[in-house]
Amino acid sequence: MTAEITLATSNSLHSTAARATRALVLHPDMRGSDRSGRDPRLALEEAVSLAHALPGLDVVGGDVVRLPKPHPGMLFGSGKVDELRDRIEADEIALILIDGSVSPVQQRNLEREWKVKLLDRTSLILEIFADRAATREGVLQVELAALSYQRTRLVRAWTHLERQRGGLGFVGGPGETQIEADRRAIDEQMVKLRRQLEKVVKTRELHRAARAKVPYPVVAFVGYTNAGKSTLFNCLTGAEVMAKDMLFATLDPTMRAVQLAQGDGNNPLDVILSDTVGFISDLPTELVAAFRATLEEVLDADLILHVRDISHPESAAQAEDVDTILEALGTDPEVPRLELWNKVDRLEPEARLTAENLAARQDGVFLGSAITGEGLDLLLGRIASHLTATLSETTLALPFDAGRARAWLHEEGAVLSEAQDDTGHRLHIRWTTRQAARFAATFPTIAPEGLRPVHDPDATRDRSDDPWGQGG
Ligand code: GTP
Repeated sequence: MTAEITLATSNSLHSTAARATRALVLHPDMRGSDRSGRDPRLALEEAVSLAHALPGLDVVGGDVVRLPKPHPGMLFGSGKVDELRDRIEADEIALILIDGSVSPVQQRNLEREWKVKLLDRTSLILEIFADRAATREGVLQVELAALSYQRTRLVRAWTHLERQRGGLGFVGGPGETQIEADRRAIDEQMVKLRRQLEKVVKTRELHRAARAKVPYPVVAFVGYTNAGKSTLFNCLTGAEVMAKDMLFATLDPTMRAVQLAQGDGNNPLDVILSDTVGFISDLPTELVAAFRATLEEVLDADLILHVRDISHPESAAQAEDVDTILEALGTDPEVPRLELWNKVDRLEPEARLTAENLAARQDGVFLGSAITGEGLDLLLGRIASHLTATLSETTLALPFDAGRARAWLHEEGAVLSEAQDDTGHRLHIRWTTRQAARFAATFPTIAPEGLRPVHDPDATRDRSDDPWGQGG
């Protein structure tokens, strides 16, 4: 076995076959030990959606396979392996997607037994990410994630070989040296990728600094995959960001400036909308780092809009996942959060009534549809009023020895004008509440008193009384 160190970008699955590869998705139902007790049929549905996101595949079906106890050699018991072989032959399946983890040994054995190519959940997501990565940084991040995943699999293969000393030779002959060489090759490539990535990240920081010169508040869209973020983004910006019924249609964040109308004859408000990659339950740990970069935009946002697919039976569980990940990312709880309960057009009248009642009881929750456009005006009005409240102007008198603070304000694009006198600089500032708070945290002795962001009680939403979608 030689390390396939280009797995994530090789497109090996879909470039070699002229016609679509026939694929079958299997979700091993581990009886309560996996996917935090979620309905296995819905887990399968999500996995089938994932499979559809990969071009060149003809997904012919999906099955939940009960698996009380995984078999170390083959994952499934021998009866099930035989039964599935018949199905694979009859349906001319060439690719099996297992919605779970499969050890390298199980993978090899099953591929031989069934004469198919087999991918586990992590590999499938890696393939999709590789296919979707639109920027240089995205591509590098995915390659890095793929390598680190392969590295763990090499180690596991080796541990197994060691136990099977003198073994059966089923691996096709890699000895210790081959595995070590593979590992070294992977390590070297990872070092190279990290170096490239550093460069790319630096460039991106320059871009971000350039953007900061236009002090528009930023609204970040977050949400579970397929919730409708890109559709909403397109609807509001008229942009052609890919919006398909596919998971992960957005791998790299997309930003666009729009003007929001304001009531009371005020001028329209310039804001930047930022679409981010969709969240997913139990994202393999290898992939978390690959997505931090794309989600960093969320950390810079002045307002977070959480888009939920309210027609999805597991909407509440999905929302909890999103909350958890946002928290893990270190998002500032002071940043206001609004929720759009999207796809309301898909609800039956009764369910719609329930949703309306629930939404009405919570501040900052809006019911709407990115397809029909209903409910969006109200939402946009609230976004505009939140953001207007975050912009303010003030004058700061900085002594001459406050050069760092002055440079900071210039870098943030917050300085409208400045003048110098005997005591120092007087700066006329226009900034968002977030910028003001960051300034206060960085330069506590200089910041004017009372410079604290307003706490928004919605910031950490308590979902314990959010029955919507539970048990759906
Ligand atoms: P990721 O990029 O995977 O994170 O997905 P996303 O959240 O950007 O979802 P996207 O906008 O791609 O929408 C997913 C699917 O839902 C598409 O088929 C949309 O047409 C559909 N969709 C989005 N909003 C609505 C809505 O309000 N009503 C209905 N009926 N469908 C919607």
